[in-house]
Amino acid sequence: MEVFKNIDLLPFNTFGLSCIAESLVNISTREGLPEYFEGKGENPALVLGGGSNLLLTQNIPGRVLKVEIPGIELIREDEEHVYVKVGAGVVWHEFVLHCIQNNWAGVENLSLIPGNVGAAPMQNIGAYGMEIKKVFHELEAYLTDDKCWQAFDLPSCHFGYRESVFKRALKNKAIIASVTFRLNKHANFNTSYGAIEQELERMGIQELSLRSVSNAVISIRQSKLPDPKKIGNSGSFFKNPVVDEAHFNKLRVEYPEIVGYPNENASVKVAAGWLIERAGFKGKRYGNYGVHDKQALVLVNYGGAKGSEIFALSEEIIQTVQSQFGITLEREVNII
Ligand code: EPU
Repeated sequence: MEVFKNIDLLPFNTFGLSCIAESLVNISTREGLPEYFEGKGENPALVLGGGSNLLLTQNIPGRVLKVEIPGIELIREDEEHVYVKVGAGVVWHEFVLHCIQNNWAGVENLSLIPGNVGAAPMQNIGAYGMEIKKVFHELEAYLTDDKCWQAFDLPSCHFGYRESVFKRALKNKAIIASVTFRLNKHANFNTSYGAIEQELERMGIQELSLRSVSNAVISIRQSKLPDPKKIGNSGSFFKNPVVDEAHFNKLRVEYPEIVGYPNENASVKVAAGWLIERAGFKGKRYGNYGVHDKQALVLVNYGGAKGSEIFALSEEIIQTVQSQFGITLEREVNII
């Protein structure tokens, strides 16, 4: 366990925002968690993984726990599946590459998502027709109130679209140490998400492989999403909102090009990027922050912006979209 005092979290959040934490505690082993909480460790103000889904708007007068537990271990296999236990501190994309190398299928569509494995279940990360709940087996978390370990199977995580129990009832109360995935020995490629097929064609790929699908996803992401190492961002800032069909059909009369996907219970998931673009924000720059020019769902820090400024911009976007379309956008990122 390593402890740092009055430390700037700038290198530890993909938005690249400066924020002083009173202390930062690095936990790099599974045993480090009970050791911390059973000692005199106070409950943390923030648990940090890869810092990829976070908007820091103020200094933190308390402890920040950074979970850096490593390890990728094949724990069991049968004819069809491998069960792979991964430490919360493993970088998500490194895990994806490890799977591709070993011919374990299921996460190739989730290539290049920033962040660590421990944060992946928090918001059930998803992209290109895939969500981690489809390959999730179980996870192990330390409960900070009860001071004990608990295993969570699929139903107990309450996964939804960018949702889980760890973001709601158990926020900051269950610290994920490892996640076990159930991956497939035989690939069942999912390229139905339009852009993947187009990209594979453009790349001249005739025979699908985990590597080629991953490369296509990487290429699409790189063309639309800013690289956090160059321009601070946390991916989609908002969720795609769900509205009832009647509301969507009414909007479609006025805006025939509106983008929406049929959803359960006579509802439609609307492309928030389209709404924000149509509201006039795409590519808008306000000094050193703004809205990405290739994907309006992504807010960016060009360097030196304050989290509070980006938050104020998100507020303005929410209000403008609300008054223009009668739809309330919900933030996907965790605001501190
Ligand atoms: N669109 C616009 N203008 C924009 C952006 C998008 O009109 O500026 C429209 C496009 O017409 C497109 C549609 O919106 O047809 C959807 O756009 P895109 O395929 O880029 O996906 P998204 O719905 O904006 C979601 C996820 C992304 C994920 C992609 C691909 C959410 C909140 N975001 O974005 O996830 O990579 O699909 O599956 O669901 C993330 O969560 O951080 C993230 C990047």
